[in-house]
Amino acid sequence: MSTDTRGSWGSRFGFVLAAAGSAVGLGHIWRFPYVTGENGGAAFVILYILCVFMIGVPILFAELSLGRHSHKNPVGAIKAIAPTGVWKYLGYLGVATGLFILSYYTLIAGWTFGYIFKTLFQNPITFTEFSTNAPLNAFLYIIFLLMSIGVVYGGVQGGIERWSKILMPILPVILLFIIIYSLTLEGAMEGVRFYLRPDFSVITGETVMIALGQAFFANSLGMGAMITYGSYLNKNENIIAAGTIVVIFGIFISFLAGFAIFPAVFAMGQSPAAGPELVFVILPTIFELMPGGILIGTLFFLLLAIAALTSAISLLEVPVSFLIDERKMRRKVATWLVGGITLLFGIPSALSFGASDFFSNLPFWSGQSFFGMMDYIFGSIALPLGGMLFSIFVAWRWGLIGANKEISLGNASFLGIQSTVWGVIIKYICPIVIFGVFLYSTGIISL
Ligand code: PFF
Repeated sequence: MSTDTRGSWGSRFGFVLAAAGSAVGLGHIWRFPYVTGENGGAAFVILYILCVFMIGVPILFAELSLGRHSHKNPVGAIKAIAPTGVWKYLGYLGVATGLFILSYYTLIAGWTFGYIFKTLFQNPITFTEFSTNAPLNAFLYIIFLLMSIGVVYGGVQGGIERWSKILMPILPVILLFIIIYSLTLEGAMEGVRFYLRPDFSVITGETVMIALGQAFFANSLGMGAMITYGSYLNKNENIIAAGTIVVIFGIFISFLAGFAIFPAVFAMGQSPAAGPELVFVILPTIFELMPGGILIGTLFFLLLAIAALTSAISLLEVPVSFLIDERKMRRKVATWLVGGITLLFGIPSALSFGASDFFSNLPFWSGQSFFGMMDYIFGSIALPLGGMLFSIFVAWRWGLIGANKEISLGNASFLGIQSTVWGVIIKYICPIVIFGVFLYSTGIISL
């Protein structure tokens, strides 16, 4: 199928913003601070940045080139190279991972949406009252899901690209306002130390696994979102330049988010390890105290909801484009079908924050919540697993010659030393390191 009938990006800038829109979302502003808080602060941040550059960036190039090569969804992209055999299951893994991540991602996005109004109307509801209110959560969940469906309905240029273009650039400005205030609070410096002064003794196998998972989660890697987005790229685009901009923008946003949160956490005497509610507990308190807090807070949650939307649509787009390309479904039918399945799996996650005892403390998952289990399995394990298999597929099955040719189409200088370095990383370092992290995190090997 030609690029024209499937849709493609309107311009290079449009692609960079849409890919940044997919990447930058709750993963940077909600997930990054809380996993950093739970895993010891600065040392985790360093580990995370290492994982992004050493593993994430090379896999990003691999996914984008695979997508552009085939102009297909993850399953189609794999079948275009390996029409028979087991490799297509890697595509299915990506499609399923997208669906499951979306099921709990939508919940947090719905909270963000609710917090716009909580902040604007200065509603005193506490986080616990909020998260245990099942009808409210269901309402917000459905509203957010419908918004995502609405954008994905619009197709590539009409929906995804237009929204990303308008809204992404405002986010860092708002974060800066929050940081400036957060740093003026008494006791803020202790938070800065936690965030910037590493203590490597806190690093365990599980910490490394979570840092690696976060590198995949935040950059939308390991499930084929970037294959799908790459499939809408024209052949003359520079994959290396576009990919690098996206990753650096993401790290910048995460870094700012941590700077907004940790000084305030310590100034308020709270625990940085509060878990998924960290942002939803700390930030409203800042907004209550800071001058202009209602306006800044409302705008912040509004932008966060929009950042979540531009990411949620990429999670949704993976299964949807699979159904369109491989099952010949119409876009509208596919979008509703995936939306329905998402909702089904979203219900137990929504009940995980106190509304249901069972889903809040799963007896078979050491008392953790259903939400925690889903995020661990899909956010921290399935994405790196998918990434490892994508790197093996690209390097060993497709072959570096084909991949290099694809990448060099928009960037002739890639064929020199750059392609050699990338080749070594994607062929050996990525699979070995990710596999090693799996073994290390399960305790099979220790350092
Ligand atoms: N990168 C998104 C975020 O940080 O919020 C989440 C995400 C989107 C993960 C798309 C994976 C994905 F394929």
